[in-house]
Amino acid sequence: MDQEIIIALTKGRILKETLPLLAAAGIEPAEDISKSRKLIFETNQPDIRLLVIRGSDVPTYVKHGAADMGVSGKDMLLEIGGADLYEPLDLNISKCRLMTAGLVGKDLPQGRVRVATKFTNIAKKYCAERGMQADIIKLYGAMELAPLMDLADLIVDIVDTGNTLRANGMEPLDLIADVSSRLVVNRAAMKRKHARIQAIIDSLRVAVEAGIAEEKSNTEASAS
Ligand code: PRP
Repeated sequence: MDQEIIIALTKGRILKETLPLLAAAGIEPAEDISKSRKLIFETNQPDIRLLVIRGSDVPTYVKHGAADMGVSGKDMLLEIGGADLYEPLDLNISKCRLMTAGLVGKDLPQGRVRVATKFTNIAKKYCAERGMQADIIKLYGAMELAPLMDLADLIVDIVDTGNTLRANGMEPLDLIADVSSRLVVNRAAMKRKHARIQAIIDSLRVAVEAGIAEEKSNTEASAS
């Protein structure tokens, strides 16, 4: 189908909050994504298919035009480089903060600072902007363990409730960026399939403004 629209979704928590917004915009997967190992899903709209992939891969799919649009956390866009993507809409979901954090009461060393993170590009930029001499240590998860085991002096990580930091004797320090999930669009697709993509953006904007995602998370909170 020439005018087919492929939307790349971030799996996990972001997906759970994205699906109600898509549904409110009239786009529903043809089967239960959570019960399937498939990676591509048909929808009730014959011209729309969904990809369900890792958040760190969404900007890459959209940048290369393998997907026309995507839902990506701002943290991933900052890390992977979302500058060449069109970012028309803040979906206002999966909100958190990208922060530095360290052990409670522990001063940073005078010389080089060891920074553990999965956001190595963001960490490099943060340190460079402050003239901080840093050794960046790439980790893939459980960043909070690094200062505890003296692998690092600082971490750069996502903070939501702050519980993980507290539970590990750490404290948030600097706010690097407020994070939420964004709708991103491939620039060439935006031109080539303008009317259809614009219609999807408009319906999602209405859903966001109607607070569909907040309504859904409040219902879940009161049910649990
Ligand atoms: C994220 C993040 C923190 C935690 C923050 O980890 O890396 O560890 O959530 O949330 P909190 O402030 O509410 O405690 P996630 O569970 O996504 O797994 P990861 O460590 O593998 O990234």
